[in-house]
Amino acid sequence: MQINFILNEVQIEIEVSPDTTLLSVLRDKLGLYGVKHGCETGECGACTVLLDGVPVNSCVMLAPQVDGRKVTTIEALGEHPDLGWRRSAGLDPIQQAFVETGAIQCGYCTPAMILVARALLAREPDPSEEQVRQAFSGVLCRCTGYLKPVQAVLRAAAVMRGEVVEPIEGPIPAPSGLFLARDEEPREGDLTPGSPELLTRTSVMPDIIVASQTEPRRVVGHPVVKVDAIKLAQGKPAFTADIEMRGMLVAKVLHSPLAHARIKNIDCTQARALPGVAAVLTWEDIPRVVYSTAGQSDPIPGPLDSFSLDYKVRFVGDRVAFVAAENESIAEQALDLIEVDYEPLPAILDLEEAMIGDAPQIHDEPEYVDFAESAPKRNLAAQIRIDIGDVEVGFAEADVIIEGAYQVPKVQPAHIEPHVVVTYWDEDDRLVIRTSTQVPFHVRRQLAPVLGLAPKRIRVIKPRIGGGFGGKQEVLIEDVAAHLTIATGRPVRFEYTRAEEFFAARSRHPMRIRIRTGVKRDGTITANEMYALSDTGAYGCHALTVTGNTGHKAMALYVGDGPYREAPNIRFYADIVYTNTPPCGAYRGYGVPQGFWAVERHMEVITRELGLDPLAFRLQNALRVGEIHPFSAAWSEGREPRPETINTCGLEDCVRQGAAAIGWAEKYGNPDWHQVPGTSHLRRGIGVAMVMHGTAIPYLDMGGAIIKINDDGSFNLLVGATDLGTGSDTVLAQQAAEVLGVPLEDIVIYSSDTDFTPFDKGAYASSTTYISGAAVFQAAKQVAERIHIRAARMLSEGGIEPISPQDIQLADRCAWAPDGQSVTIAEVALNALHHEDQEQIMGMASFVSPVAPPPFAAQFAEVTVDIETGQVRVQKLVMAVDAGVIVNPLTASGQIEGGMTQALGYAVCEEMGYDDAGRPREVDFRDYHIFAAHEMPKMQTIFIETVEPSHPFGVKALAEIPMDGVAPAVGNAVLDACGANVVEAPITPERVWRALRDRIDILRSR
Ligand code: FES
Ligand code: FES
Repeated sequence: MQINFILNEVQIEIEVSPDTTLLSVLRDKLGLYGVKHGCETGECGACTVLLDGVPVNSCVMLAPQVDGRKVTTIEALGEHPDLGWRRSAGLDPIQQAFVETGAIQCGYCTPAMILVARALLAREPDPSEEQVRQAFSGVLCRCTGYLKPVQAVLRAAAVMRGEVVEPIEGPIPAPSGLFLARDEEPREGDLTPGSPELLTRTSVMPDIIVASQTEPRRVVGHPVVKVDAIKLAQGKPAFTADIEMRGMLVAKVLHSPLAHARIKNIDCTQARALPGVAAVLTWEDIPRVVYSTAGQSDPIPGPLDSFSLDYKVRFVGDRVAFVAAENESIAEQALDLIEVDYEPLPAILDLEEAMIGDAPQIHDEPEYVDFAESAPKRNLAAQIRIDIGDVEVGFAEADVIIEGAYQVPKVQPAHIEPHVVVTYWDEDDRLVIRTSTQVPFHVRRQLAPVLGLAPKRIRVIKPRIGGGFGGKQEVLIEDVAAHLTIATGRPVRFEYTRAEEFFAARSRHPMRIRIRTGVKRDGTITANEMYALSDTGAYGCHALTVTGNTGHKAMALYVGDGPYREAPNIRFYADIVYTNTPPCGAYRGYGVPQGFWAVERHMEVITRELGLDPLAFRLQNALRVGEIHPFSAAWSEGREPRPETINTCGLEDCVRQGAAAIGWAEKYGNPDWHQVPGTSHLRRGIGVAMVMHGTAIPYLDMGGAIIKINDDGSFNLLVGATDLGTGSDTVLAQQAAEVLGVPLEDIVIYSSDTDFTPFDKGAYASSTTYISGAAVFQAAKQVAERIHIRAARMLSEGGIEPISPQDIQLADRCAWAPDGQSVTIAEVALNALHHEDQEQIMGMASFVSPVAPPPFAAQFAEVTVDIETGQVRVQKLVMAVDAGVIVNPLTASGQIEGGMTQALGYAVCEEMGYDDAGRPREVDFRDYHIFAAHEMPKMQTIFIETVEPSHPFGVKALAEIPMDGVAPAVGNAVLDACGANVVEAPITPERVWRALRDRIDILRSR
C-alpha cells in the first residue's frame, strides 16, 4: 500500500506493506539512522520519533498509522556549527545543551532524549525537574544515570527562555569552604550548601579536590566537550548497523529450546528451499574448531570449550543453526522450517548440583582444552586456591570469629544497542567485520582459526558503540555473520533481539559466598577467609578471571592492623562450575561487585556484633599507601604474579568528604533521624561501603598510539583503544593535546580499525585512560621532540644565539623560545612536510604497566524502608572516589553517575532467573527492570585527586569502581533502618520482609 506523510518538513510518498513498522520504513527504506533500535516491544524508547509533535515508539507503530501525519526525527534538528562556506544554523539549543553538559555518553539514546525534550519544551518552556524526569521516563539510558540529561534539558530551557546560563569551563577549582579540612568535624550542609536542590541545579560539574601536586594544565583536568558529542547529538550514522550495502542479507539464529541435549538430526531441506533464503548452516556445514569466546589476550586464560555450532546444546538459547535471508521475515520463517531431532539429557540448573558426584557432565567433547585447574568431568571450569599468610593462625589469635553467607544474582549489562555485526568481503577478498565490540584485535585473532582464515585476511572495524559494559568483551556474534558471508559471498547483518540479549548474551556471574573473619575486640582483623561458588553457565568464558577478581580486589582491601597489616592472613578459594544456563562473562566490575557485596555486608555485621564504629573499623583495617597489595604476589589473572606497592590511596579523605556529604555524623546512630515524622511504617537508614578496584592488568594489558602532524598544525591520533561511550577517545585526545600545546579540536582521533590503528587490548579492566593514555603521552612526546628540533632551527635562523630544542615550549598552537619568539605549529608542519628536509613528523608508542594502581572509594546510601511491605526507597547515593588525577571532570562524573545507577539496579531490582526447565524468566525490559529517569535517587560524586606516579598525568581507573559499593551500602542502610539483614541481593521487598520476620522470630525466641 502507499502512504503519504510529512517527514522532517518534506512530503513523502512511499510503498509499504501493511505490517511494516515505522522504524523499519525510517531506517531501512529512508536511511534515517538517527532513529535507533534497542528492543522490539516498545520499552526502551531508543526508536522515539515525534508524531504530530508527540513522542511515539516507532518500533511498535505500523507505517500506515502515520499516513497523512507529520513525523519528526533527529535529522530535522540542528547541524554542525561549521559547514565551511555554507552558513550553518548550528545545533538546536537542546542538542547544544546535551553536548555541553556531558549528557551524551554512548549517544545511542541521545536522539530519543533530545526529541522527547523538544516535545516537552514546546508545551512547557519552564519545566520542573520532575516534569523532565517524567518526560524521560519512556527512554531508557544505561550509561548516564540521567542526571546530566536532566540538567541538559533544564539548561536548554533556560537558554531558550533567554536566560544566561553558567558556563561550563575549567580549570576545576576546589571551591573555598566546600570541602572539610582534615581536622574538621563533618557538619551536614558543609559540603554542598543547598544539597536537597542538587538534582535541579544546572551546574553539571562534580565536586573535586584537586591534588595539591597537580600542575595547572591547559587541557587535562578540564571539562572539555566529548569529541564525538556533536555527531551523536545529531544522530549521525555512526553505529555498526547504520550502514547500507547492496545485497545485504539478514542473519538469524535458531536457538535450542532445551537446556541440555544432543542433536540427533537436523533437517534443513524446507528452510533451504524457501524463496529468499540464501544459506542455512548447521554444525555439519562448518569446520569444528574449539575456541573461547572470551575476548582476552593470548593465551586465553580459560578453557577452550566453545564451537560456532555443535552437535550438543548446553542451555536454552544455545545455537543450533544459522540462517541468512533477503529480509528478517524470511529468515524467521526459515527458522520455523528447520526440523531438529534432540536427545534430551539431564540438565544442571543450580550451581550446587554441578558439584554433586554423579552430576551429568556438561562438557564431554574430546576437543575440550583444559586451562589451569579446569576439570570438565567434575563440571569445573576453573578453581582458585590462594593463601596469603596463614588464616588458621589468624583465627587462633582472634577474640571472635564471625561467619556469614551471602548471595548475588545473575544480571545483564543491558546496553541499549544490542550486539550487532555486519560482515562482507572487500575488493581484495579480505573479510571485513564491522562490529560493536570492545575488543577488535581479539576478535580478529580469535576468530581467524574458527573461520579458516589467516588473521591478515580479516579486518575488524569498530564504529561507535551503543554501550558495552563488558558485554561486548565477548567474541559473541561476529562468527555468525562471518560464516554466512563465507557461505554466500554476500554482506550479512546480524543483530540480537532484546530477548536474545537476555538468553544468549553474557551476564554477571551469580555467586554464593561464605566469609569467616577473625577479629580482636579492638577491631583488628586477624584473618579473613572467603569461599566463592561461582556459576559460569554453559561455557567457561571469563570463568577464572572474573571470579579471581572477586577475591583479588574485594579481599585485598582489609589487611588487618598492627602486625597483621605487615603480614595479613587472607584465604580466597573458589570453584567456578558449569551449569546448563546461559553463559556468564564480563560485566562492568568483573567479579568485584560480587566480592564487595559479601565483604561489605559482612564488615557491617561485624561492626554491629562488636559495637564498633563502621567508618573507623573499616579504615583501621584498610590497605594504606606504601603497603604491598596483598594479592599482587599471589595471583594475577592466570599470569605470573609480582609484588606491587600501593603508591596512592585517598580512601581516608573519601570517607571524610563522603560522610560529610551524606550527613553521616547527624544521621548514623540518631534514633530521631531514623523515624519518618508522621508515619509509623517508615524507617530511615544510612549505610556505607568502602571499595577498591584495579587499573588494568600489569605486565599484560598493552595499548598503542600513533600521532602524525598535518600541514595545518593539527594531528591525527590513531588508537586501537575502543571508546564504548565512556569518553575514552576524548580523554586520550586531551592527553595528546596537553603535550602538544594545542586545543582539543586540533586532535583528530580515530579508533579503531585493525588495519589502521595500532594494537590495543581493548576496552576492559578499567585500563584505557591509564594504559592507552600513557601510550598517547609517549607518542605525543616523540612528536613534540621533532617539533622542538625543527622550531628551534626555524627560530634560530637570522638570530645571534642558536636556540636549543630543549628550551622550546609548546603552547597555544605555537612553539615558543625562551626570549618570547614563536612559530606556529602550522608553520612547523608546513616546514616539515613541504619546505625543508621534509619528513612526516609522527610518533608511535605503546605502553604496558608493571603495576595496576587501585582506585579507592567510599560509597554511601540513604534509604527509607517500609517495614510493613519491605519496600525500599533509595533516597540518596554519594560516592567519594580517588581515581587519581581526573582528566575530564564531565566525562568522569558521568561514568560515576552511570555506574552508580547500574549498581543501584544490582542492589534493589535486577535479577535473572530460570524455570525448572532452564527457560529464562526475563526476556525483555518489562520483566527485567532497569532504572528510568523518574525513579532515580539523588546522586552526588566527589573526586578526591591523588597523583599516581606510574602514569605521566597521575591517573587511575574510574569506570568500574562505582559498581562495587552501592549494593552493600544500600544493604547496610536497610540494616540500619530496620534491622533486616538481607544477605541475598537484590534487596527486594520480599527479602526485606523475610529478613524482618526472621529478626522478629529471633527476638521472640530470646
Ligand atoms: S521502544 Fe522501540 S526500539 Fe525499544
Ligand atoms: S548514553 Fe544513553 S544509552 Fe548510552
